[in-house]
Amino acid sequence: MSASKDTLTITDNRTGKRYEVAVVDGTIRAMDLRQIKADEEDFGLMTYDPAFMNTASCKSAITFIDGDKGILEYRGYPIEQLAEQSNYLEVAYLLLHGELPTGEELKQWTWNVTHHTFINENIKKVLDGFHYNAHPMGMFEAMVAALSTFYPESKNIFDEECRRKQIHRLIAKVPTVAAFAFRHRVGMQYAYPDNDLSYEANFLNMMFKTTELKYQPNPVLERALSVLFILHADHEQNCSTNTMRSIGSAHTDPYSCVAGAAAALYGPLHGGANEAVLKMLDEIGSIERVPEYIKKVKDGEFRLMGFGHRVYKNYDPRARIIKQVADEVFEVTGKDPLLDIALELERIALEDEYFVKRRLYPNVDFYSGIIYRAMKLPVNMFPVMFAIPRTSGWLAQWVEMLGDADQKIARPRQIYLGQRTREYVPMEKRNGGAEGQAAGG
Ligand code: CMC
Repeated sequence: MSASKDTLTITDNRTGKRYEVAVVDGTIRAMDLRQIKADEEDFGLMTYDPAFMNTASCKSAITFIDGDKGILEYRGYPIEQLAEQSNYLEVAYLLLHGELPTGEELKQWTWNVTHHTFINENIKKVLDGFHYNAHPMGMFEAMVAALSTFYPESKNIFDEECRRKQIHRLIAKVPTVAAFAFRHRVGMQYAYPDNDLSYEANFLNMMFKTTELKYQPNPVLERALSVLFILHADHEQNCSTNTMRSIGSAHTDPYSCVAGAAAALYGPLHGGANEAVLKMLDEIGSIERVPEYIKKVKDGEFRLMGFGHRVYKNYDPRARIIKQVADEVFEVTGKDPLLDIALELERIALEDEYFVKRRLYPNVDFYSGIIYRAMKLPVNMFPVMFAIPRTSGWLAQWVEMLGDADQKIARPRQIYLGQRTREYVPMEKRNGGAEGQAAGG
């Protein structure tokens, strides 16, 4: 009997039995494998996929990536067009609502976000508890989590109106929280939001305002920030978004979800990479030392930060746009000498067999740090600069997850390889060694 086209026939060589499972959207359902059993007692076949290398955890209509071709689209719109013609708040609307806003919708959306930028004064007391040298990302995570205690109604995640309000609040307050964390670290008085300014200009105001009555950012830097925010707004099922969905699947409030997602973003393999890139460029120090550094990377001593991507096996389209933005920013700020080192590093790496063979290209983080540094942002603010715009992407993915009937609490399976049902050993009978280590581990 020949199988119909959209199915997969599996022969279990342990039993000789054949199974037919449906192929839908290029995938099979892992649960369809559970019926495949070696014997009556068998739990059923599972897949083993650490790090989700080949597992779709959800259906989504938000962001499309073709990693081989280097394509990135939000809701079907190419990232290049959005970066050129849109601004961050419009893109955030697009991610959350699925369509570009009309003029009236954008006006209302911008008003809603702009009028939630203030944070409760008590949040400042939370901030005061941190050391003067606390990492801003640690403060950011803690303060976003703390916001959940100020808005206990945010637990009503299936109340659409309430959910909408928390979304406005979160997108509005993350720049305030970020800028306050920065000010705490440098020991400057907090600068309050200015509702006359754009989202990006207000952020620069809260970061850098000193004695002037009205802060007016350089329009080139304001625009560059908008483009950087657009490029960082979403990236489908990356580590932090997966964290957002995973925490959200337990029906946790959105502030706690965003705090958890930000913690995932903090890692140097994810949003912390832009910070690591700058440290790396500083360490290299001069163009002459680039070949020596590349050799160490190839010898496996460390990785070339800002290079490589799980999904892109081509030039990251975001890196290409950022490179253009860098030129515009440097015209205003003057060129950062680290740019020459970065360009040389990229040139050599793109010609080198090690990188070519592994299809390692610059990713979004390779150039973003250099721009942020030119804007006078300290290196430790870089992951925070990623978290601000990614908040809209996390929220869009969270809303999509809550409305998806296929989703349940995220709960992977494991392959248990440890000991089974043993007798408890009283302390005086333990002989250390392997047993002691097992208890410690
Ligand atoms: N430098 C040198 N070698 C690398 C690098 C790198 N940056 N990235 C991957 N490789 C090598 C790796 O050693 C492995 O080689 P081999 O096959 O000989 O063992 C091969 O390339 C495949 O690497 P992998 O670790 O299996 O790839 P992955 O998909 O698990 O990792 C990654 C993706 C982004 C974690 C990794 O490329 C990396 O560590 N890059 C540096 C950190 C970085 O820039 N992260 C920012 C990612 S983009 C922003 C974001 O979305 O957060």
